[in-house]
Amino acid sequence: MGRTTRQDLVRVAAKARQRAVAPYSRFKVGAALLTRSGEIVTGANVESASYGLTCCAERVALFQALTAGKRDFVAVAVVARAPGGPMPCGACRQLLAEYAPRATVWVADSRALRTVREFSVRELLPAAFVEVPGGPAAAAGSKP
Ligand code: THU
Repeated sequence: MGRTTRQDLVRVAAKARQRAVAPYSRFKVGAALLTRSGEIVTGANVESASYGLTCCAERVALFQALTAGKRDFVAVAVVARAPGGPMPCGACRQLLAEYAPRATVWVADSRALRTVREFSVRELLPAAFVEVPGGPAAAAGSKP
């Protein structure tokens, strides 16, 4: 396959949405992450009877990709039956800011896949908390 287009990634996210496990909200969401080397990793939301344990499609895709050793994300598409497409929640914005800071975010309504809205992770979560003071990033740069 050649270069993945925006429309390709949205279509893959729409397909992933079909695997959502959302018996409580019935709001099915699909996500597809694209790496710089052209690999695509998908996810869909998974809900729990203990509602707070629910995991969004974006985070399922991100955790799947990260634990498969993928890091360099250039785009993420998110699709659900929502006018204008689903906006990622605050928790997902945080994880995207940490692990996919340069990714372009595309959202689309599953009933109108050709209408895609585009955001940067930075505009979705400006001034993000991405480094713990005194944490590993600080230690890596510190003198012994
Ligand atoms: N959800 C996502 O998967 N992604 C979003 O961007 C918004 C919300 C899920 C979580 C829950 O399963 C359902 O949508 C309703 O909130």
